[in-house]
Amino acid sequence: MSLLDKIDKENVPQHIAIIMDGNGRWAKSRGLDRTEGHREGAVSVRKVVEAATKAGVKFLTLYAFSTENWCRPEEEISTLMELMVYTVAKETDNLIKNGIRLHCIGDIQRLPENTRNALCRCIEQTSSGENLTLVLALSYSSRWELVNAAKAIAAGVKNGVLDENSITEETVNEYLTTKDMPELDLLIRTGGEIRISNFLLWQAAYSELYFTDIFWPDFDEERLYEAILDFQKKERRFGKISEQLEKGNP
Ligand code: IPE
Ligand code: IPE
Ligand code: MG
Repeated sequence: MSLLDKIDKENVPQHIAIIMDGNGRWAKSRGLDRTEGHREGAVSVRKVVEAATKAGVKFLTLYAFSTENWCRPEEEISTLMELMVYTVAKETDNLIKNGIRLHCIGDIQRLPENTRNALCRCIEQTSSGENLTLVLALSYSSRWELVNAAKAIAAGVKNGVLDENSITEETVNEYLTTKDMPELDLLIRTGGEIRISNFLLWQAAYSELYFTDIFWPDFDEERLYEAILDFQKKERRFGKISEQLEKGNP
């Protein structure tokens, strides 16, 4: 029996984000090159995307390459970029078939041209997918995003489009790369580290957090369902007390 059957379909997180960590250590523990870990990690992506779709998740944001990852050895960076081109091209038909729409957030202009082109092609071809939006965070970091938002808001005030006294949380949301996405319900990190590594800092303000020691290449359908079941056990109080929630008070 799959854990999918145990999931309460009325309480599925609408938006899950995953820090896919542990590819290198997975490979090292098998005496393999780090590259092999990244290749195997791409297989996990396929499994988890399909599992999220089956569970009824609407948005899945995957941290695939951070701003800080540009500091890795050049060879590893180019392997990752090539892997992206290959995987995106290979998976496009499957995404279309499953009603999955691709979207990217991050400093996409920094990516090599062929990676950018492959992503744009896939985004265009999958644009009518309605089951799940798969968001790849590439050359993304939260501080990069927040600095850009601050600059854009400042420019808006300067040129009269925005009134500084009317700036609210919603205004800030509007200037983030996640502006059209639902609230982040669940943030998962694989690979054993208990840190956020500059990912969705604003958006994770009230997310449930789920950390697992499992390396990303070992994370699969059932592991995702486990994380969703754990999420369903939480009482999300958003600052209130339990009794207020029970009474269904606003
Ligand atoms: C995550 O795995 C993948 C990326 C950051 C691109 P790592 O490559 O960070 O794997 P570890 O943490 O070294 O094991
Ligand atoms: C976080 O993993 C970034 C991605 C998964 C893309 P890292 O392996 O880069 O994180 P740190 O450096 O250990 O915090
Ligand atoms: Mg890592």
